[in-house]
Amino acid sequence: MASPSKELGVGELAARAGVAVSALHFYEAKGLIHSVRSGGNQRRYARSVLRRLAVIKVAQRVGMPLADIAEALNALPSGRTPTVADWRRLSAKWKLELEERIRTLTQLRDQLDGCIGCGCLSLKACPLRNAQDALAREGAGPHFKAPGETPPSTR
Ligand code: FES
Repeated sequence: MASPSKELGVGELAARAGVAVSALHFYEAKGLIHSVRSGGNQRRYARSVLRRLAVIKVAQRVGMPLADIAEALNALPSGRTPTVADWRRLSAKWKLELEERIRTLTQLRDQLDGCIGCGCLSLKACPLRNAQDALAREGAGPHFKAPGETPPSTR
């Protein structure tokens, strides 16, 4: 019996990982996984890419943006495959981010309760329409000066 190849073709990797070939190409284009080219110019993947794909799938399942997943994977020494310890660190960090996202979404949901039946979408009054308006605390009107103009706070 022949020994199994250390590398996988794109179809074999897709089948083993349970992802579409197009997804593999996409992940590769985004720098989440890497391949080498065979003599016949076909993509060949190290078996360790299966673990990277498992991490990517789990991270996507909990709603992590691809850019964050790529950043985390690329922060590993020499772009290596995550170990159990790496995964513990990543998942702990992502847990904190998920908790923050849940807190934000819960707040949005509660604010939405006030908007249901209102429909004003007012920049002044609606917390959903202008949720990030930090300058509103400084009063109404413009807060930035044009070149040569006196800043509003010194008027
Ligand atoms: S739609 Fe009126 S307060 Fe949000």
